[in-house]
Amino acid sequence: MEESLLLKDGFIVLPGETLRGSLRLRDGKISQTGDLTPEPDERVINCEGLYLLPGGIETHTHLQLESMGTVTADDFESGTRAALAGGTTTVIDFATQFHGESMAEGLSRWHEKADGRCAIDYGFHMALTEWNSRLKEEMASVVEGGVSSFKMYMAYKDNMMVQEDEIYEALEESQRLGATIGFHCENGLLIDVLVRRERARGHLTPYYHQVTRPPELEEEAIVRLEAVNHLLHANHHIVHLSTARGLGAVNRARERGISVIVETCPQYLLLDASRYGTADRDDFEAAKFIMSPPLRERRDQEALWRGLASGDIQFVGTDHCSFNFKGQKEMGRSDFSKIPNGAPGIELRLQLLYAYGVATGRMDINRLSVVTATNAAKYFGLYPDKGVLLPGSDADIVALDPQLEWTVRAEDLQENCDYTPYEGMPVKGRVRHVFLRGRQKVAFGRIVSDDLDGRYLPRRLPDPVIQ
Ligand code: URP
Ligand code: ZN
Repeated sequence: MEESLLLKDGFIVLPGETLRGSLRLRDGKISQTGDLTPEPDERVINCEGLYLLPGGIETHTHLQLESMGTVTADDFESGTRAALAGGTTTVIDFATQFHGESMAEGLSRWHEKADGRCAIDYGFHMALTEWNSRLKEEMASVVEGGVSSFKMYMAYKDNMMVQEDEIYEALEESQRLGATIGFHCENGLLIDVLVRRERARGHLTPYYHQVTRPPELEEEAIVRLEAVNHLLHANHHIVHLSTARGLGAVNRARERGISVIVETCPQYLLLDASRYGTADRDDFEAAKFIMSPPLRERRDQEALWRGLASGDIQFVGTDHCSFNFKGQKEMGRSDFSKIPNGAPGIELRLQLLYAYGVATGRMDINRLSVVTATNAAKYFGLYPDKGVLLPGSDADIVALDPQLEWTVRAEDLQENCDYTPYEGMPVKGRVRHVFLRGRQKVAFGRIVSDDLDGRYLPRRLPDPVIQ
């Protein structure tokens, strides 16, 4: 039997209430919660003044992903260490089926990358770059094997983009199996036209990335996706929603009786399009913010914050897709369309959401736990082992000090990237301790265990009834 550990006198954050009390961790699980007194020889950690939150569940990462002629800077080891330092204890990464491959080939490549190299527990979604009868035949075995969520891209023409016929048929099969599909909603055909047009005009600086991906193209893709869903009513979600227009399209679909789950990301809540500079100035620093969808306007941020608090948006993933500025982002120095798309963020999700969501009064601490853990656990088939602090659940716990103030510096992070888009941002609230299945992995803000003992998590079918 493993030692018993008492997290004493914290604020235990549950979905609907916060209780002052203690958590007893035994054999990797939460064994008791409430007003507990230490047992003889029990290790006690004083949690007075700390929030005890369920370990974060990161729904959207691209670790060691081959993309645009390079590979993302964080592999499973550095990416999951960074996640751990920031209070995330489960990651669901996008295993990718590239053109011509089977799902099994994609999945086995992802297991090779991840198995034995993760500091936290992990699962996979399956990203599909096409749809055909062979993939249809394979979907059931993939779901039975514990990959119950898929992703399709409506962007990235000639590479990963799928169209309505493929979307319809994939959703039909996924619905038959009780699984779900997430969609990257941007109109890839129009983006391609706009990119070609700007390049022909000699407009090659990073500024033009967002010019070629306007908000209307997210909204339009959502309208198109929801027209398909009007026919099917299949489980599905929208990944990395970035605009008020997109959220409007989601809510209009809901008014027509379609059930849609939505994810957004910290970058769309906190950073805006001013980071791309201006048309008349060539500032390649803007390449640090090249991601798809691009950063938007302040009014979009406010709409997303409101949606997150009200329940229109159900969870927050980071779309962590890190490329170094030197050597990787620089690949697009003379042409914005060659800049690898994506940015790091896995380490900062919980702390940024606490600082700019809870500490500013935009949402309460309970909603924070729901959008960073509980909803993802339910929707991605991990609840109640993960995502909640109840007796019997895995003892994945974050102790966060709401008073500590600090400033984000790339050099202080575990992420294996030479910059962070959040450089210099003041943050109120800091992760102090993190426990993975009862074992302390972070103490007083520092990683204290180098064990790569994260377990692969086969997942059950989604529970789409989340708020
Ligand atoms: O720019 C991004 N987000 N790259 C990663 C792939 C995606 O679109 O999710
Ligand atoms: Zn992504």
